[in-house]
Amino acid sequence: MNKKSGYVFVWPIGTRIIHWMMAFSFTAAFITSFYENMLHNHVAFGFIFFIIIIYRIIWGIIGPRYATFNTFKLRPSQLKHYFVEKIQNRWRKIPAGHNPASSWFTVWALGVGTVIVISGLLLYGIQEGKGLFRDLNSQYSQYMFILDMIHKYASYLFAVWVVLHISGVMVEQFWHKTGMVFAMITGYKKTEGEDTEVKPLLGFFSYMMILIAIGTYFFIISSNYNFLTLQKYTNIDYEELHPVFYEKCSDCHNIYPPYLLPKRSWIRIMGALDNHFGEKITEANITKSQQTSILEFLTQNAAESSTREAAVKIMNSLEKRRPKAITKTPYWRETHKDIPRSVFKEKKIKDKSNCIACHKDFEYGNLDDMNILYH
Ligand code: HEC
Ligand code: HEC
Repeated sequence: MNKKSGYVFVWPIGTRIIHWMMAFSFTAAFITSFYENMLHNHVAFGFIFFIIIIYRIIWGIIGPRYATFNTFKLRPSQLKHYFVEKIQNRWRKIPAGHNPASSWFTVWALGVGTVIVISGLLLYGIQEGKGLFRDLNSQYSQYMFILDMIHKYASYLFAVWVVLHISGVMVEQFWHKTGMVFAMITGYKKTEGEDTEVKPLLGFFSYMMILIAIGTYFFIISSNYNFLTLQKYTNIDYEELHPVFYEKCSDCHNIYPPYLLPKRSWIRIMGALDNHFGEKITEANITKSQQTSILEFLTQNAAESSTREAAVKIMNSLEKRRPKAITKTPYWRETHKDIPRSVFKEKKIKDKSNCIACHKDFEYGNLDDMNILYH
């Protein structure tokens, strides 16, 4: 009954599209993760990956022949047998469905993939204050470090897994000449068995999931303010919040949001205005009562009282230190260490303390990764 003699139709079009979407979305999310200002794209690709994982799990339960988990060859003895045969180059016939190696690969990939997407969604909420879990930021901000580790190492593990998978397929293709690469393109495998059939309802489900994945990607890309991407923090109007602070402290430079330094730093800075980075600020410039009022405002809104990523990470990097500049905190140095010194000397930047030159909306206390202008 095979349409193509010697070949079995194993991977219907839906399965193949899903397979390549998963490969593509993981790769794209992995690459964009290395660029802070591409977080938005990273999340959009991550969502494709997320939806494909859900799809694949459902597919493994209700899907067609060769795709369901109960056809997987997961016994360790099968895996061992497979590799022994492979190394001796005896097992040239490939099974129509998953072989033991690809069975294990799929199960592990779905497991690790689930860890990646869950930790990613939580991290987006808890660290960035964005997306579905943005409200968790206020309570669980301390968990951003552990979530970041989980998310990162699970992704590395997945990447290693992908390399192993590709190596295995290459061995099949070029050493054992089983034509495995083509199977995921044409859907046909050179083997024996029955063709797979996809019932119309299952086919519909496949296409719906593909559409949902692509639709979600564009939904995220198109806006920074929908329910999947919204940040719980909005721009702060310091001028309205504390006019004296705004007016007096933006005389020589743009104001620095109070949450970027701890209380003890603000006390130190405000206690030494007569030698403020080489400037002498006296009571003639800012009266005693204005100074008191500014200090009160700064300490009330200092890093200790904020759960923003920068505040939490600055506090975490400081230990007992009491720096009198944000640029002197270990966190600032760490996040800007890859920027060449010459960049800070450029005409439109002039100095590293000119945050606003690279961080759009900085004067509104906004440090959204998307607002980083690259140089
Ligand atoms: C007379 C000018 C002047 C005024 C007024 C002034 N500053 Fe500054 N401030 C400076 C200079 C100069 C620097 C050094 C960095 C630079 O060149 O921008 C600086 C740097 C800083 C920094 C360190 C930034 C970094 O590099 O991390 C902080 C924080 C700061 N000022 C806070 C304040 C606050 C708070 C006020 C209001 C009470 C204030 N400044 C008012 C001149 C001024
Ligand atoms: C020359 C441009 C430039 C200047 C000036 C600059 N930054 Fe940045 N900043 C960057 C870039 C680029 C990144 C992203 C680094 C990365 O990829 O991790 C960054 C990252 C950060 C982050 C971390 C963001 C995050 O989500 O991890 C913080 C906080 C930050 N900057 C604060 C400041 C402050 C405060 C100042 C001024 C005292 C400042 N920056 C000045 C370019 C700049």
